[in-house]
Amino acid sequence: MSETKEYYRDKVAVVTGGASGIGLALAETMLSYGAKRVILADFNDANLARETARLNTAYPDRTLGVLCNVTKEEDVQSMIRKAADFGAGRIDFLFNNAGAGFGGFFAELTNQDWEKAFALNFYGALYGIRAVLPIMKAQGGGHIVDIISGIAFYPMAYQTMYAATKAALNGLTLALRYEFWDDHIRFTSATPGTTATAIWSTGGVEAPPTAQTPAHSAQTILAGVAKNERLVLGDEGDASGARSCFNPDTAPSADEYLLDNARKRRSGQWVV
Ligand SMILES: NC(=O)c1ccc[n+]([C@@H]2O[C@H](COP(=O)([O-])OP(=O)(O)OC[C@H]3O[C@@H](n4cnc5c(N)ncnc54)[C@H](O)[C@@H]3O)[C@@H](O)[C@H]2O)c1
Repeated sequence: MSETKEYYRDKVAVVTGGASGIGLALAETMLSYGAKRVILADFNDANLARETARLNTAYPDRTLGVLCNVTKEEDVQSMIRKAADFGAGRIDFLFNNAGAGFGGFFAELTNQDWEKAFALNFYGALYGIRAVLPIMKAQGGGHIVDIISGIAFYPMAYQTMYAATKAALNGLTLALRYEFWDDHIRFTSATPGTTATAIWSTGGVEAPPTAQTPAHSAQTILAGVAKNERLVLGDEGDASGARSCFNPDTAPSADEYLLDNARKRRSGQWVV
């Protein structure tokens, strides 16, 4: 644990989607580990104002809230400039965490739906990476963490947009890991595991009773990132999904599970 804390001590971190759920827990946990400055970037102004004030009471003057819609590249560029000012020129971490679930029947989805999903879950992160790379290159390194989902490895029916956007983000992240390795800029993909946050109610379903807390997810992610893992898996379900889904030896059981899941969902029973 002390090695994990050390990795964040005196560092400057940007967290998109930082006003709620896992992003907020990542920010709060890094502050508790001694991070010097944390920047919350979110488009929910009420949550942003409330949580920035709360964190600044607990950890005086170490948090900046920046109103930012990550689907707009100019917003992201401007947010990164403000973050670097607040960090006295440095940004050590970027957590591309803003995202949403995007479910629906494939046959009913329009190109606009697909564009909306990719704008948030994929391009939002790409804009963040593009904006922060020059700063990280100039300072000699940094760490970019893209929050994906277990669905990137275990694609479930009626969540085609979520599965495709998160798999695309994982591909982007892991390819960049080697493109920028020699520049000392690290890239990690991280799944939070099933976590009780507002994302479930936004999608019209309840989090399963077994869902972990955002603080638990944040601790797992931060520990894996501190070890420079290429892929952090947030719970045992994600770990077994990642192990088995593309393994030819386990293809029949993966098919059986995913087909059963699809049939249950079709009959109105939302299972994960
Ligand atoms: N909760 C889970 O079980 C779970 C599982 C796997 C992956 N994830 C991923 O974790 C990440 C965080 O989700 P969460 O569960 O904490 O949900 P959440 O809804 O609590 O948080 C998402 C945050 O992103 C912000 N946001 C949404 N669109 C934005 C935009 N265009 N610009 C800026 N901010 C925006 C929201 O305002 C919110 O504060 C997401 O990428 C999600 O896909 C969550």
